[in-house]
Amino acid sequence: MGERSVAAVILAAGMGTRMKSSLPKVMHRVAGKPMVCHVADTVSSLNLDRTVVVIGPDMEMVRDAVAPHVTAIQHDRLGTADAVKAARGGLAGFEKGTVLVLFGDTPLIEADTLGAMVEERESGAAVVALGFRPEDPEGYGRLFLDEQGNLERIVEHKDATDEERLNDLCNSGVMAVDASILFELVDAVGNDNAKGEYYLTDIVALARGKGRICRVIEADEEELMGVNSRLDLAEAEAIWQARKRFDVLSSGVTLLDPATVWFSHDTQIAPDVIVGQNVVFGPGVIVEAGATVHPFCHVEGAHIGPGAAVGPFARLRPGAELGEKAKVGNFVEIKKAELGKGAKVNHLTYIGDASIGPEANIGAGTITCNYDGYLKHRTVIGEGAFIGSNTALVAPVEIGKGAMVGAGSTISKDVPDDAIALTRADQRTLKGAARSFRERRRKLKEGKA
Ligand code: UD1
Ligand code: CA
Repeated sequence: MGERSVAAVILAAGMGTRMKSSLPKVMHRVAGKPMVCHVADTVSSLNLDRTVVVIGPDMEMVRDAVAPHVTAIQHDRLGTADAVKAARGGLAGFEKGTVLVLFGDTPLIEADTLGAMVEERESGAAVVALGFRPEDPEGYGRLFLDEQGNLERIVEHKDATDEERLNDLCNSGVMAVDASILFELVDAVGNDNAKGEYYLTDIVALARGKGRICRVIEADEEELMGVNSRLDLAEAEAIWQARKRFDVLSSGVTLLDPATVWFSHDTQIAPDVIVGQNVVFGPGVIVEAGATVHPFCHVEGAHIGPGAAVGPFARLRPGAELGEKAKVGNFVEIKKAELGKGAKVNHLTYIGDASIGPEANIGAGTITCNYDGYLKHRTVIGEGAFIGSNTALVAPVEIGKGAMVGAGSTISKDVPDDAIALTRADQRTLKGAARSFRERRRKLKEGKA
């Protein structure tokens, strides 16, 4: 759309009181990403000439989240038309073409739909509104068409009569407006209505009054629902997840029970990965081809190499790097640690701030003691090393290539290549002692009876 002359204004200054939150509404996350960033990223994918995000005076958080997009401040939240006015400076000199107005609380909007709106606008319309027919139209503005099917006016839910509310064609809030008259229109909007606000939706009737044509494009509710409450947020999340599951399945990934697998906005999964039931992917995960994530894993900031296997019941935290065919088994936590090719950490283990060489085997119950209460320290385990069960590795410590550590050891000094280290006390075996112990005890008990 580069050569087309299109700008975008994203409105995000609203308080979102219905969220009952100390966080600005548009900072609430869908798939781990603030809603306003979903909208900003979709807009970015269109390569527009300019984008201005309108925020409230106390919303540095939103400003930082949408950077490097330009932000403009709406000082008093007087309504959506007033919010557009705040973008006037940011759009100075942009007088030919189309301005897309989007809402920061409508996170599921898709780039293709915006493209279609721009095209429709360029065919001569002053305003193109994006409509949809939600299952429950309560709260949305209603779009009214004339006999030719052109858009005549938009009536906000609160201002609509009972009869008008029967119309199920609703306003998503997204508009494409002729840049040359946008500010003339919003300046003419008044606030004599149920909310006492300057409604952007009034620009339709105003443009008609100037003899201009307005139109409507329709899209699915799935894409256009606005988030006003926690209930809406949960619904938006569900829609996003369903879309992502569809994409992931279509790309050649097996999800044994798709509805129980949760993705993040940036999850990357290669074909021929198998994901078991009840798996949660937090942000920053890459899973390479042929890997298996068994049921009940929580994976975040991790890179799972080709053919690697994780879980069931494993937790990968940020900085977990699993090499090709590495194995992480049940009740294992990995943080900021690399596992070389074919390395195995199969049971009940914590590996943090560590590097595990290829083909090394870490026995059940091994713990890297990486934290001394003040600082974190690294553990380095060489290629092919064997760490016996229930070992505590007190970092900083290095276990050489091919070295072995006896079960139950507490290792605080480096172990050279091919050495065996063990710290447990020698075993004493007292022949027949168990039998004589039992006899003594039995007599003692009988004597008491
Ligand atoms: C708005 C539309 C309604 C539409 C619905 C779709 C208007 C008047 N109404 O209603 O027709 O059906 O969205 O979801 O446009 N905002 C500001 N400054 C303000 C007020 C709002 O930046 O002064 C921003 C909000 O942050 C939000 C967006 O504009 O991102 C919409 O505001 P909201 O109050 O949620 O409007 P709705 O009542 O949902
Ligand atoms: Ca809204």
